[in-house]
Amino acid sequence: MHRETVLTPADLIWPLFVTDGDALEEPIASLPGVSRWSLDGIAARAKEAVALGIPCLALFPNTQPERRSEDGREALNPDNLMCRAIRTIRDAVGDGVGVLTDVALDPYTSHGQDGLIDDAGYVLNDETTEVLVGQSLNQAAAGADIIAPSDMMDGRIGAIRAVLEAEDHRNVQIMAYAAKYASAFYGPFRDAVGSRGLLKGDKRGYQMDPGNAEEALREVALDLAEGADSVMVKPGLPYLDIVRRVKERFEVPVFAYQVSGEYAMIEAAVAAGAGDRDALVLETLLAFKRAGCSGVLTYHAAHAARLLGA
Ligand code: PBG
Repeated sequence: MHRETVLTPADLIWPLFVTDGDALEEPIASLPGVSRWSLDGIAARAKEAVALGIPCLALFPNTQPERRSEDGREALNPDNLMCRAIRTIRDAVGDGVGVLTDVALDPYTSHGQDGLIDDAGYVLNDETTEVLVGQSLNQAAAGADIIAPSDMMDGRIGAIRAVLEAEDHRNVQIMAYAAKYASAFYGPFRDAVGSRGLLKGDKRGYQMDPGNAEEALREVALDLAEGADSVMVKPGLPYLDIVRRVKERFEVPVFAYQVSGEYAMIEAAVAAGAGDRDALVLETLLAFKRAGCSGVLTYHAAHAARLLGA
């Protein structure tokens, strides 16, 4: 009766990895229990999400190596894996589930960085933003509901919002990865999208310093002023203080991403007999809600929704 916070399947966003081919399920070794799916599998996951009451899927492509390039131009291909996955979901379930698409160049570049780089390997902010605008438009045209820029370039939210308005995609939302930290928790994700082996250096030139909290508030303020509909904090559990500060300061929908390394930690604890999976999953997800999140991106989404629906 006195419980302040509740968790429901409607709080969950389910990240899915897409691969090319037919009838393929490729398990990801560093993310036990998570696979890349070919489009038929993505359609099946979309139906599963509808049945479970999960309102939104987040898509990440594992681009074929021969389609990766220095400039990541495959991101602009209207027939790339991401666009085909969006259309596949629409064919499978119509508007029954929302589709959130990641905007950043790392699944498409031969160097694994989220943007275009100079000769020294430093990511070029403004040149990258131009490509991200094209990538966003490409995804919106394919039917994305929410554009989620995860690249951390400055000024890209405003530029993307302007082109969505101009090109008749006014109802497409933007969820800004506003406070995204240069974190050690992204390793398994990079395996999943095939960028770990390619990545030279790190992403500290554009992702945030884990020591900074005020900077997160400045980043959120900028993205909201530029037209973001909601903001994200990432990773999740180690940054709940940031979630809380953002929520209290701005009173907008805040989401968190319980990232691949966090998922892997829970699974490793379970495998080691150190904890109960169901309890760990539900407690961590509830903590996000208590901290102020409107919802959580989590690889445990389907499992959690099953537990909550039972
Ligand atoms: C790419 C992107 C990353 C994640 C989401 N989008 C990785 C990175 O920035 O290197 C990480 C998600 C996860 O670890 O689950 N821009």
